[in-house]
Amino acid sequence: MAHAPAYNDDAANTGETRTLQIFRGDGEGGSLVPYEIELIEGMVVLDAVLKIQAEQAGDLAVRWNCKAAHCGSCSAEINGKPKLLCKSRVEEYDGQEIKVMPLQAFPVVKDLVSDVSWNYGVSAQIQPFNPGKEQAPFTMYEEDVERLYEPKKCIECFMCQDVCHVLRTHHKHPEFAGPRFFVRTQWLEMHPMDENNRLQFLKEGRGGVQYCNITKCCSEVCPVDIHITDNSIIPLKERVADEYYDPAKWLMRKIRGNRRNGSANGNGGTRASHKRAEIRTNG
Ligand code: SF4
Ligand code: SF4
Ligand code: FES
Repeated sequence: MAHAPAYNDDAANTGETRTLQIFRGDGEGGSLVPYEIELIEGMVVLDAVLKIQAEQAGDLAVRWNCKAAHCGSCSAEINGKPKLLCKSRVEEYDGQEIKVMPLQAFPVVKDLVSDVSWNYGVSAQIQPFNPGKEQAPFTMYEEDVERLYEPKKCIECFMCQDVCHVLRTHHKHPEFAGPRFFVRTQWLEMHPMDENNRLQFLKEGRGGVQYCNITKCCSEVCPVDIHITDNSIIPLKERVADEYYDPAKWLMRKIRGNRRNGSANGNGGTRASHKRAEIRTNG
């Protein structure tokens, strides 16, 4: 939780005021408290919250870092929808109430700060990048590299996790990794130099990709426009279906079992070359 910066008095004061209703409380409960502020032209909701913290409520907890929509720290909910506070202009809400709450899919620590550490535990359970015997610098085809750009844009704001009904409503945290980690797994699985296999994690482990019913709510809130369902979840579901429901692959898996033969994935170190072939075949 960073401290509020000195506010810029030279900024263009509009002479108008706005009222923000801000959640004050913790995991035990709390309530929305109204704060009136002078509206400064172009101010974002994070500016307004920091102004309130500086002038009216020194103990108001809010998490932020870059104030440039890059770090993902300031995610919270405005009027029930996950938003980056530093990317949401107060003027967007003219004529509406502005209710600012912490992310609801995770435990509330204090005021606008939720404890998102559960996500780091999930991340740690995903097998990391494994280039096998390949040594950097890697030689990669341009189309393979382009495929990896989109998932790498993720700023870990966890707004997709917050909006996903599997976590938010059904509380499947122990069995479901959530859209952010399908994005991460997609990057790893589509990396042509990677030799690990995360399909078992997705299907039988705590990935739980089968719980996703492709509502696309996650894609709609992503601040960096990752097409989470189309480009991450659906391709992963297809790979899981190929692996587990294709009769030939099912038989091979039965014969192969979970045996490991010296490589991390049990495929004798040939998976990366399979990935390269598969990716080029898929265009
Ligand atoms: S598409 Fe799937 S992961 Fe995304 S919000 Fe819907 S259920 Fe959750
Ligand atoms: S995928 Fe998008 S919404 Fe989800 S954590 Fe990354 S940047 Fe945020
Ligand atoms: S403060 Fe970094 S994304 Fe908002």
